[in-house]
Parts: sequence; structure tokens; C-alpha cells
Amino acid sequence: MSNVSEIVTSIGVVPVIKLDHPQRDAANLANALCAGGVPVAEVTFRAAGAAEAIRLMAEAQPQMLVGAGTVLTTAQVDEAIAAGAKFIVTPGLDPEIVRYCQDKGIDVFPGCTTPTDYHTAYKLGLKTLKFFPAEQSGGLAKIKAMSAPFPMFKVMPTGGISLKNLKEYISCPVICACGGSYMVTADLINNQKWDEITDLCKKSVEIVKEARA
Ligand code: 3PG
Repeated sequence: MSNVSEIVTSIGVVPVIKLDHPQRDAANLANALCAGGVPVAEVTFRAAGAAEAIRLMAEAQPQMLVGAGTVLTTAQVDEAIAAGAKFIVTPGLDPEIVRYCQDKGIDVFPGCTTPTDYHTAYKLGLKTLKFFPAEQSGGLAKIKAMSAPFPMFKVMPTGGISLKNLKEYISCPVICACGGSYMVTADLINNQKWDEITDLCKKSVEIVKEARA
């Protein structure tokens, strides 16, 4: 397991963030997540200012593990690395992007949900995968079924995870961490509800702790 995977695993949850106003919100958000015990973020390239958001979050909380999500091109990989991203997440499995990240020495977690995806990921030498979109792709039952032929992977399910099902997911030994936007929704960010974000992070960390006790 890489250092990045180890840190992500130890935290257990990865907030998936779309920031429309990085100058206004990035530092506050980084502070809120860290105060809640979740010093990690997947900042998605779905928002135009993603690279700036990555840079500002990493500046505000230098010990935080800030990565880039929804990365679709090698140009975005370059942009993310230049902004200080420590890992790359892609929604699907693109061998070209995976190899590009491997050449650059940055961890990449591609979205995989099928035996074909997993097999390709195996051949690419990957160890940790994003399982996306988790609930919509068969959820925990599918993750468990996939681990029979592919016991070598740890997965980070994302998509449809909330405080309601986090314990069930994170209790599964195949799962190293759960991604989600539930603690950083557009409503929470746009209305600058930083204390609520911190609170949701604390609750998530508590659930992870309970599940692993
Ligand atoms: C992602 O990009 O990983 C998902 O959109 C997050 O899914 P969620 O909003 O259901 O947590």
C-alpha cells in the first residue's frame, strides 16, 4: 500500500468537493475538514477553479492530503500536480491516464465496477481502486462479489454514501475508505456552514472508529 493509500485508509472517509468559489471558500473548507478530523479531500475538476481550490486548500492546511477528482485528461493531471495535488481520482478506468500518473509518480485511483475494469487495473499494477458509482452499481453486495476473483484490491466506494450507510460499508474489510459529498454538499458550502461540515466530519470519523473497534 502506498503512503497516500495508508493515510486515506487511516482517515476512512474522503470528502468529494466541488468548489465554485475557491477564493472565498477553499481555506475555510480546508480548516473545517481538518477541525473535524478529516484532513483529506478529493477536489473535483467538475468546477472550473479546481486547480486553484487544490492550491488554496493545501496552502491553508499544508499537512492535508489534497487530491484531484473527476480527472479526465492528462492535461488535467498536469494541472492538478502543478497545483499541489497528492493523488488523482478518475471516474472510469483509462489506462492512458493511469500510466501517465504512474510515470509522474502520483497515486491514481480510477473508478472501477466490473470484472473487466478490475482485470485491466490488475494488469496496470494498481492496488487501490475507486468503486464508482457505488450504490448505483450494486453497492456492498457487488464489492464483496468482486473481491472473490480479485482479492488483491482495496476499494474506495463513492456514490450514494452517507452517515446512514457508512458503517455498513466501512465495516467491509475490502473497503479502505468511503468517498462522498454528504459532508460537503453545495448547500453547506454555498451557505458557508463550516461548523456543520466539521460536525459531519466528526460524526463520520466516529462511525469509522466504531466500525473498526
Ligand atoms: C463522486 O464524484 O465521487 C460522486 O459524485 C460523489 O457521490 P455522492 O455525491 O453520492 O457522494
